[in-house]
Amino acid sequence: MKPLHRILVNKDTSFNPIWIMRQAGRYLPEFREIRKENPNFINLCLNEDLSSEITLQPLRRFDLDAAIIFSDILMLPHGLGQKVEFEKNFGPKLREFNLKEITKIDEIDFVEKIHRVYKVIEKVSSDPILKNKNTIGFVGAPWTLLVYMINQQSPKKSLKKGFFEDEFLINRILLIIEKFLKIHIKKQVESGANIIQIFDSWAGLLEEKDLPNYVYTPTLNLVNYVKSLNVPVICFPREVKNYKEFCDIVKPDAVSIDYNVDPKMILKDIKIPIQGGLDPKILLSDYENLKQEASKYLDIFKDHPYIFNLGHGILPETNPEMVENLIKIVKNY
Ligand code: CP3
Repeated sequence: MKPLHRILVNKDTSFNPIWIMRQAGRYLPEFREIRKENPNFINLCLNEDLSSEITLQPLRRFDLDAAIIFSDILMLPHGLGQKVEFEKNFGPKLREFNLKEITKIDEIDFVEKIHRVYKVIEKVSSDPILKNKNTIGFVGAPWTLLVYMINQQSPKKSLKKGFFEDEFLINRILLIIEKFLKIHIKKQVESGANIIQIFDSWAGLLEEKDLPNYVYTPTLNLVNYVKSLNVPVICFPREVKNYKEFCDIVKPDAVSIDYNVDPKMILKDIKIPIQGGLDPKILLSDYENLKQEASKYLDIFKDHPYIFNLGHGILPETNPEMVENLIKIVKNY
């Protein structure tokens, strides 16, 4: 059985596999080299040779237990015809949302626009380097995608004024997103993804009273869909106000926690396997501090099914040597 499946399916507590959010990315010089030659990020994601190579780059260097496909949650709006661009030091920029245009898109149009993502998954998952490792496919949660599609950029601390004004429209868009996310998930699984992670990076923007409509219900629908495909699903509802309630309602196979979560508290509250938590900034400190902080998570979760990961994506300024150190600390624990 593949390492993450041992935790997610068998609830094994005898070891801790490790992978790192954004492990294929800017902290690696070999990624930056390819990126320099490919200024259009979406086109890079759709280049099957380069994207497969980028996906495997961290696995060529480190003893990680899983590959995560090099792609982006914003391939969904791209596939729906909403233009997405990435500007240096700004992040994503999306063209204005147009309901009329989006309702014209069908499954065939969508898959045609982004089918190369599935080719990357086919290529990567059949590579011998992943023989005893997992291949993680992913999507953005409906709420987080809605935020990007309406807000047209990262919301940082708050949403555009009047975001919730037209509730009918918002709920219609959520249904469209959900429909195409299911297609995107199904194609990823058919191409070789054996785990799906759902990133809800902006779950923390919502007050508790809005969580059922925007987070719990649409995410539960997706989680049930992934389970129907017989693939484990990990949810990362970053900074959500109530992780316990999220898990009780949505019931993913594992929950990934952000670095503001108190691991001891969550251990009391949550029975399902847990992933992540370590603050990515710890990788910018020194070896001793890293060892101490990583061991804290390993100690607390020693009798709980636990996948080692960070509490958010690895920072671009991280020294790859510290990643090497972290993996050794986890493997030798
Ligand atoms: O290694 C991996 O994790 C796989 C690839 C991956 C990327 N994005 C590549 C990427 C994954 C899983 C994502 C998820 C993603 N994308 C999320 C959810 C996770 C999170 O960080 O909260 C979100 C919100 C996005 C949207 C997105 N894409 C943003 C906000 C940005 C700009 C980030 C920044 O720091 O500038 C991206 C660009 C992006 N996606 C990069 C990478 C490697 C950087 C591209 C570059 O400029 O070289």
